[in-house]
Amino acid sequence: MDGLTLIDVLSRWAHVGAAVVLVGGSVFTRFVLMPAAAGLQESEHIALRERIMGRWKKFVMAGILLLLLSGFYNYLKVAVPAHKGDGLYHGLMGLKMLLAFGAFFLASVLTGRSPKFDAVRADAPKWLVVLLLLTGSVIAIGGFLKVVAKPRPADASVSILQESRPGA
Ligand code: HEM
Repeated sequence: MDGLTLIDVLSRWAHVGAAVVLVGGSVFTRFVLMPAAAGLQESEHIALRERIMGRWKKFVMAGILLLLLSGFYNYLKVAVPAHKGDGLYHGLMGLKMLLAFGAFFLASVLTGRSPKFDAVRADAPKWLVVLLLLTGSVIAIGGFLKVVAKPRPADASVSILQESRPGA
């Protein structure tokens, strides 16, 4: 295995690992922690939330950084050459990136302190579900591209997805 292949593998691990931690943490927060903490007194509830958010925020920031670095590395170094000329692949990848940026923004707002977004944090159970729908769509597109859009030789210019559509 040469140096670059090793970086490719590390970058995949970082990408999938960060996604697992962030999405898993959000599912736990929304469907385990929030219902369990709902019975606490207001003062206890606020204190617990402050302590959890202080720690979880570091995971969110590090996870976003890892997803961005590994995602752009995977895309520019691996996917662009392997899917040259495949418009559908790059279109879906562009959509994946936009949805991911939306998810990063929402995750930052939910763990942040800016008074501008107090209303979003006050309705955190709803916005966490929106965050999970966004990340779920990002994962679905990522997994779909990995399985369906097979890499093609560098000179190919027709989408493998288009080829499978009658009349394309
Ligand atoms: C919420 C944030 C994100 C999540 C949860 C996520 C998740 C995933 C998952 C599950 C895969 C499939 C991995 C595999 O099967 O090996 C994947 C692939 C990929 N992701 Fe992400 N991702 C996120 C953000 C990003 C961003 C911001 C970029 C680019 C800037 C990006 C670029 C890529 C690329 C290039 C692939 C490879 C697709 C292929 O195999 O052709 N991702 N992502």
